[in-house]
Amino acid sequence: MDLLTLKELTREQIDELLCLADEMKRVPENYYETLKGKILVMLFEKTSTRTRTSFEAGMVQLGGHAIYLDWKSTQLGKAKLADEIKCIERYADIMMARVYTHESIQEIAGASTKPVINALCDKYHPCQILADLMTIREHYGKLEGLTLAYLGDGNNVCNTLIIGCKKMGMKINVATPKGYEPLEKPDLLTNNPKEAVKGADVVYTDTWVSMGQEEEKEKRMKIFPPYQVTKELLGKAIFMHCLPAYRGLEVTDEVIDSKQSVVFDEAENRMHAQKALMVKLLKEW
Ligand code: CP
Ligand code: NVA
Repeated sequence: MDLLTLKELTREQIDELLCLADEMKRVPENYYETLKGKILVMLFEKTSTRTRTSFEAGMVQLGGHAIYLDWKSTQLGKAKLADEIKCIERYADIMMARVYTHESIQEIAGASTKPVINALCDKYHPCQILADLMTIREHYGKLEGLTLAYLGDGNNVCNTLIIGCKKMGMKINVATPKGYEPLEKPDLLTNNPKEAVKGADVVYTDTWVSMGQEEEKEKRMKIFPPYQVTKELLGKAIFMHCLPAYRGLEVTDEVIDSKQSVVFDEAENRMHAQKALMVKLLKEW
């Protein structure tokens, strides 16, 4: 089984994964040999801090090994992607890839007989959202019935949040400028950030300029400022951001540094959630 969008998992599977991730966070030593001898190959077409480090650290904690490959120092990007993957999979038990287009992650999954995890593409970021659901559950003790408001660009993180929140019985409101709406359908879609944050338990944002959109930066900087998460918009909700954050743009210092901000728990939980994901993909699903 592959994880490309988060649509692949049922609510029950996500629940099981989050329980295992909680347990791994609580007693990591019980899992030191769970993936002994297994090899994770990590393919990066774009840069990363959290995804790379959390996957590699997680695999080592499970007794396995991780190999990092990028497009610059390998033949990836030169030859047909599927041919390169058919070779790499002979050395790997499981693969993850961060690529520009969703078509590339589909090509990788199509060429590999081993499980493939999408570590971010232009449309989806499922690993991030598994860690986010874990973080929200950790904070509120539940997911069902909570409301998440996402402000800003209707990007890969927003699309996957919509899938994840709806699957887990949460309500999701999204406020974006006109023309920047997500592909997936939230419960409430508006251009008004004040309307979106009404009754929100979680306020979430992400960069206004994702990797690959650098040429649009100037235009986006003029359009997005009304969607900045301020103390007023945050209200009593917790603040979430996948990071890296651009302080003073999508979020103020005051908000990201406040007690309501759980951004570093989110970053830590990437590792726990991905450890649980790799174990489930290799042993159960
Ligand atoms: N949130 C996230 O995916 O971070 P990196 O780009 O640093 O991996
Ligand atoms: N939307 C951002 C997320 C980075 C983790 C991007 O794709 O660049």
